[in-house]
Amino acid sequence: MCGIVGAVSTRDIVPILVQGLQRLEYRGYDSCGVAVYSDGLKRARSTDRVAKLLEQVQQESVTGTTGIAHTRWATHGAPAVHNAHPHFSHGPGKDAGGKAGRIAIVHNGIIENHEELRAALQRKGYHFASQTDTEVICHLIDSVYDGDLFEAVKEASSQLHGAYAIAAFCKDEPHRVVGARAGSPLILGVGKEGGENFLASDAMALAGVTDQIVYLEEGDLVDLQLGRYWIVDRSHKPAERQVRTVQAHSGAAELGPYRHYMQKEIFEQPRAVADTLEGVQGITPELFGDGAHRVFKEVDSVLILACGTSYYSGCTAKYWLESIAKIPTQVEIASEYRYRDTVPHPGTLVVTISQSGETADTLAALRHAQSLGMNKTLTVCNVATSAMVRECKLAYITRAGVEIGVASTKAFTTQLAGLFLLTLALAQVKGRLSEEQEAAHLKAMRHLPAALAAVLALEPQVISWAEDFANKEHALFLGRGLHYPIALEGALKLKEITYIHAEAYAAGELKHGPLALVTDEMPVVTVAPNDALLEKLKSNMQEVRARGGVLYVLADADSRIESSDGIHVIRMPEHYGPLSPLLHVVPLQLLAYHTACARGTDVDKPRNLAKSVTVE
Ligand code: M6R
Repeated sequence: MCGIVGAVSTRDIVPILVQGLQRLEYRGYDSCGVAVYSDGLKRARSTDRVAKLLEQVQQESVTGTTGIAHTRWATHGAPAVHNAHPHFSHGPGKDAGGKAGRIAIVHNGIIENHEELRAALQRKGYHFASQTDTEVICHLIDSVYDGDLFEAVKEASSQLHGAYAIAAFCKDEPHRVVGARAGSPLILGVGKEGGENFLASDAMALAGVTDQIVYLEEGDLVDLQLGRYWIVDRSHKPAERQVRTVQAHSGAAELGPYRHYMQKEIFEQPRAVADTLEGVQGITPELFGDGAHRVFKEVDSVLILACGTSYYSGCTAKYWLESIAKIPTQVEIASEYRYRDTVPHPGTLVVTISQSGETADTLAALRHAQSLGMNKTLTVCNVATSAMVRECKLAYITRAGVEIGVASTKAFTTQLAGLFLLTLALAQVKGRLSEEQEAAHLKAMRHLPAALAAVLALEPQVISWAEDFANKEHALFLGRGLHYPIALEGALKLKEITYIHAEAYAAGELKHGPLALVTDEMPVVTVAPNDALLEKLKSNMQEVRARGGVLYVLADADSRIESSDGIHVIRMPEHYGPLSPLLHVVPLQLLAYHTACARGTDVDKPRNLAKSVTVE
């Protein structure tokens, strides 16, 4: 999703700004731009890749010591150059004279009251050159500017409703950038040379530039100048914020022998799960933070809030929490929960799941639950410094490493590992986990990296399935019980990166409607581990075959399902009991990946999607 980089320096900062954008490219964008102070405001914008923007700034000699840059994921207004950021103020009045071109701004997020602000600014004579809500902020700052950009941003922000992060500079104060954070992430990078300072929406943008990072808090305003910075909190009082040394993850951006980040990340899963479980010697609530034992003792139910793939890991965890820990569990799509009338229960452990820890809907759902008095909160999250971790009492940090591919893979399996640990810890506190059971589960968890590696070795067989899928336009995924969410995740992966329409059903639902879709043109992927529901699933498979549907079955080694006419079987190396979902999802990730390669889609940056969805 949108990305911000800003800098105040004594050297030409355009290369740093553009490299910062390149590091944020993985988040997804449809236009980009950079603006600098150079005897006035100068900018370059493009609807092409950041590499093209770099050529453009070189051709047009865009250089400067103060500047801001942006990758935009369109919300208000089409992906077009005139809507790309940075935006400049130009008014009041249409002429280029007077106050024209004074303020430059980039913005992540959404301004909810942009229409009324736009109307008020138009009445004052401001002329709009784009359809964006961002340009409204730019003119608003201009309209209240009286020689002090910090004061102007402070005043303008008090009129904004919505979630945003902004960075602005003014041609009349050439060595100053002002930022504001309300609902979208923004960090400050303390420079290492010449008193320079930086702003960014993600520390990754500053990898190799500075590792001295300040995470701005909700409502913070920051004033960046040469050799100094100044932060005020939401009530405009001076605020001290800790400077942390953050190891930037530039190394993760190397593709190595892989064609795409998604492929690399699929193959990193044995390592990612091993890292996530590293240091787990035994099951103890303290794995989730200080005070977890007391919280776990008090809770009698679990409410899971998440979006997308993280929601499906929550759906899987529900089966574990109810069957192993015997705790009633509800899983809600965060964007639904945040607006739904619910009956709050103070004995509920609210669990958010998020790779990024910045997903706007999940954060809003968490805050909504807190506002209803549910303050026992825990997150399973891949980014230790994220808002999600900061705002939850307890946390389990997965150690997937940076995930660049928009389609989430290693984040999912590491979330499952963290959620299985949570299940065991809750079961233990509730007296529902014997020492023998704990030892058996731990043994299985320690073997997971090797088991995942064995599944990855099935890739050649999955490639032959992908050849069949490449020319299909629809696919059905079936699973039962613990593997129904895995079917859902398999379908999501396929649609995200291949654009094939895919739907997943609990296999027992087939005869209640979707069976009508089945023809020999509809491949039906069936997740068929050798568990208590296998015989039921085999009947569902017969229902498909009887209608000419072609089955692609992920069967366990010992499940006695054979390949035959219209039935393609890939045999999983071993049956893995309750942890089986972590293994069965891997061939589905590979299926989506290889089908996308065969169709020639942009695997790591699928159309219309962003990595981290920081707007509603
Ligand atoms: O960062 P989060 O885990 O909160 O993100 C949630 C979803 O946006 C994310 O899982 C999305 O569905 C992925 N693109 C799925 O591959």
